[in-house]
Amino acid sequence: MVEKQLIVTKIKNGTVIDHIPAGMSLHVLNILGITGREGYRIALVMNVESSKIGKKDIIKIENRELDSKEVNKIALIAPTATINIIRNYEVVSKVKVELQDVIEGIVKCPNPNCITNQSREPIKPKFIVVQKVPIKLKCVYCGRYITKDEIKFIE
Ligand code: CTP
Ligand code: ZN
Repeated sequence: MVEKQLIVTKIKNGTVIDHIPAGMSLHVLNILGITGREGYRIALVMNVESSKIGKKDIIKIENRELDSKEVNKIALIAPTATINIIRNYEVVSKVKVELQDVIEGIVKCPNPNCITNQSREPIKPKFIVVQKVPIKLKCVYCGRYITKDEIKFIE
């Protein structure tokens, strides 16, 4: 088999988020709160061929390792993504993101009357994942259903 061409070079330390659905990498950076002004060296690759998912995006973040909460957020909008932790050029961990059955403290309820949106009640929003593909969540508190396009993350 012909060796694949590398679009961006390998990184020494950090995180590679691979197999992101094509066109979703900016959303992934957004939900991670990464603006580019933090100073990490970041490589963004969009719409490249993937044997697994047709076309994909890739994000490489140097000197930054993602924690599990961040990984869970990514699962909401990029369910095919793999998180590779790189240390000294080696992939030391490869984890496929996985959607949890319950999403707590990550997504906002769009219902303004929901108790989670009353500032006097410090209640963490909590959703049950009622359907994974396409994603559908249900607010535990007010029963509101939300679809992919309605997902808003807590800052
Ligand atoms: N990578 C990198 N820097 C390194 C090591 C790996 O940027 N020092 C990138 C690779 O380019 C690839 C991803 O991290 O995009 C995963 O690397 P690897 O596991 O070696 O590639 P694959 O076997 O193709 O991964 P998968 O099986 O998940 O498709
Ligand atoms: Zn609600």
